[in-house]
Amino acid sequence: MKFTAAKGTRDILPGEVEIWQRVEACAHRLFTLYGFREIRTPIFEPTELFGKSTGADTDIVIKEMYTFPDRSDRSLTLRPEGTPGVVRAAIEEGLLRRGDVERLYYIGPMFRYERPQKGRYRQFSQIGVEVFGSAHPAIDAEVMEMVVALFTSLGIESARLMVNSVGHPGCRPAYREALRAALLPRSDELCADCRRRLDVNPLRIFDCKVPECGRIRQEAPVILDYLCQECGDHLRQVRECLEALEVPHDLNPRLVRGLDYYTRTTFEVASDRLGAQNALCGGGRYDDLVASMGGPPTPGFGFAIGADRLVMVVAEKGACPVPADVYIVHLGDAALKEALSAARHLRRRGLTTRLDPDARDMKKQMAKASAWGARQALIIGEQELTRGAYALKRLADGRQVDVPAGNWDEIKREVAHGGQDALGA
Ligand code: HAM
Repeated sequence: MKFTAAKGTRDILPGEVEIWQRVEACAHRLFTLYGFREIRTPIFEPTELFGKSTGADTDIVIKEMYTFPDRSDRSLTLRPEGTPGVVRAAIEEGLLRRGDVERLYYIGPMFRYERPQKGRYRQFSQIGVEVFGSAHPAIDAEVMEMVVALFTSLGIESARLMVNSVGHPGCRPAYREALRAALLPRSDELCADCRRRLDVNPLRIFDCKVPECGRIRQEAPVILDYLCQECGDHLRQVRECLEALEVPHDLNPRLVRGLDYYTRTTFEVASDRLGAQNALCGGGRYDDLVASMGGPPTPGFGFAIGADRLVMVVAEKGACPVPADVYIVHLGDAALKEALSAARHLRRRGLTTRLDPDARDMKKQMAKASAWGARQALIIGEQELTRGAYALKRLADGRQVDVPAGNWDEIKREVAHGGQDALGA
């Protein structure tokens, strides 16, 4: 019997993992610069949490959750997104203090039972942030600027930021009715799901992926024409702050995101390098969510980046192998023991070191050294042992020097020196 990974999941192998590490390290560094602190919440939560936050009539909750009873018959769900768990934790752990702004970020796996395709998986990873405690439009702009800065620092030029407002519970009913009135006469042309949405929550029609529904949507009224004064002002100020921060963006009046909790600002970053699943990041403001989940009234703003998609875009620019600083070539049994000891000492001194005990002759080992991208080879043979000196050979140009056997600090210095020369420093 042959086992394969479950549908919609995949193994991330060495070679690709280095790109993940780079992306995650960049996120940790940048978010810290902006005052964010990391939070790690459980991967499963009580099922009711998601109906209450993501929204009972969203596609995620109706069709996409991995829900199961545990052995005590409690209904649990693998988190389909990070926001509900972070809000729950912030309330439960007392992180929301009046007058304070709390900035949190998270990186980890999410689960949605969706139809797998390029860039869409059933287990995927998100890099997300949530800011609690400020309704100021400058927060929206600052956080969007941070997303753009992350993409820029990873060398991504193809990302487009799109911004919209979905209003607040005061101004949304009028829009909902206008949308229903405009679409009702064409309900025969809509898919079965959208006909149901028209009844329950017409805004959810914007989530539909059926092309015909998309065409009909293009002719529907847009929410921007229905915003109240305050929501309109908020959007204007967000855009002014974005301009002050020199963040290029487009207003996209049809950007209504597939989660229920948004109020006012919503945004997405898309990349044309990704094909159909082109959303790299989505987020927005959720000023009523914390209170609706039993917490103190606390405005919120956040986003999540699809890390799998981000890695795909970064990988296009070329993989980044982690080259070894030194490859140790050993010739003979006594030399192998010396080589093992050399590897231990050099690793302790922070040098990435490889050796292959099975490889015997010089030629094979030098070939392996290049295959591993090693900058230099430390050669230990019978001759070197007798002489009390190893040979250190630079792979780029074949330059070879003697280094004193057993003097690890001196060898480390020589390796660093030779490596720098090789880089032209
Ligand atoms: P979302 O738009 O559902 O928002 O997901 C954010 C990002 O996760 C998407 O833009 C996409 O890159 C990635 N993503 C979603 N589903 C998949 C999938 N099946 N496979 C691969 N990547 C996927 C949220 O999740 C909100 N919690 C964002 C947020 C945080 N809003 C406020 N705070």
